[in-house]
Amino acid sequence: MSLAGRKVLLVVSGSVAAYKALELIRLLRKDGAEVMPILTAGGARFVTKEALAGISGSRVHDDLWAAEAEIGHIRLARWPDLVVLAPASANLLAKLAHGLADDLASTVLLATRAPVLAAPAMNPAMWAHPATQANVATLAARGVGFVGPEEGPMAEPESGLGRLAEPPAILAAIAARLAAGPLAGRHVVVTSGPTQEAIDPVRYIANRSSGRQGHAIAAALAALGARVTLVSGPVVVPDPPGVTVRRIESARDMLAAVEDALPADAAVFAAAVADFRPDAAPRQKIKKEPGAPPPEIRLALNPDILATIAAHPTQRPRLVIGFAAETEKVVEHAQAKRLRKGCDWIVANDVSGDVMGGAENAVHLVTAAGVEDWPRMPKEEVARRLAQRIAETLS
Ligand code: C5P
Repeated sequence: MSLAGRKVLLVVSGSVAAYKALELIRLLRKDGAEVMPILTAGGARFVTKEALAGISGSRVHDDLWAAEAEIGHIRLARWPDLVVLAPASANLLAKLAHGLADDLASTVLLATRAPVLAAPAMNPAMWAHPATQANVATLAARGVGFVGPEEGPMAEPESGLGRLAEPPAILAAIAARLAAGPLAGRHVVVTSGPTQEAIDPVRYIANRSSGRQGHAIAAALAALGARVTLVSGPVVVPDPPGVTVRRIESARDMLAAVEDALPADAAVFAAAVADFRPDAAPRQKIKKEPGAPPPEIRLALNPDILATIAAHPTQRPRLVIGFAAETEKVVEHAQAKRLRKGCDWIVANDVSGDVMGGAENAVHLVTAAGVEDWPRMPKEEVARRLAQRIAETLS
């Protein structure tokens, strides 16, 4: 994607991953973007001003008072099309979440009206800390986009969620964010993956959904410029770039996360939500008692997220789209489901073959106007077509 003429203000804060900012700048410039770096005091511990200036071909700003003398923090704040925080330290995210302005980076962040994309990098314990998670939730609710962090080995002798996303992934997120596509300014909520319903602290009931179709839809919507909140059950497919991901386990958590993400212009419910959950999950692991009969699991009905949101009294998205996985009478069942659930469209697929976890899908789009049979195609292509249709309908 060409980023010709797009202006990116890149805040480099304190993390051992700061060296990756140099590669990110190289990639951005290769795609035609103009990059102006701001270096925080912490960032300067890991990468030099000279290296950033050399790679960006721009002057590097690192001092609030010097910037005042040169161009002023307000002019700096007005310059970019997008502000990128890479790496974004726990401290920088905390300052932005709470409106602190005690150095150049935080002051510019408070003054800018440009969209902000953050690529966090920190120790896994710092990322997992409730304070950081609360700050991330606050920022995401205000429209700050996130890319990563990723799971993997860290500089310290430990491993976990906290690694800076790789520069190509950050670049893709930037491109998605800058794309003035037909869904620019729209918010779409997407659910994806399975849910896990606890039997006890270590066991659960789940299903074979891979999340591939839902994640592809989230990526395709973001590529058309939408702000996307993806509420996902446990999956191994990577987070789509440029999408805010909320990870949940159970159906009840998924419903809460979807309600939390509203208002939205459209909602796509591609998750394979468990219909039932164990009625009561004991706090302790259920023991196998010698000679005793196996325990029985009583099931309770889970909330229907699609039907709940389609019937939302105040915040029903304009377009509510459900999925139907059927093994027989696919279209007939989907039509009935559309009416029963109160949604606008149903994307119906025949899962009698290898669709679950597979790379391809053959779907029927069921709307009030009728049924369209789409040929068998890769899940990414199904996602692109669906995103295009959503864009046409919302415009
Ligand atoms: O009723 P069924 O599970 O076949 O409906 C499938 C559609 O409903 C999918 O869009 C799925 O994401 C959604 N669904 C839901 N909450 C449930 C069950 C299904 O949102 N508890």
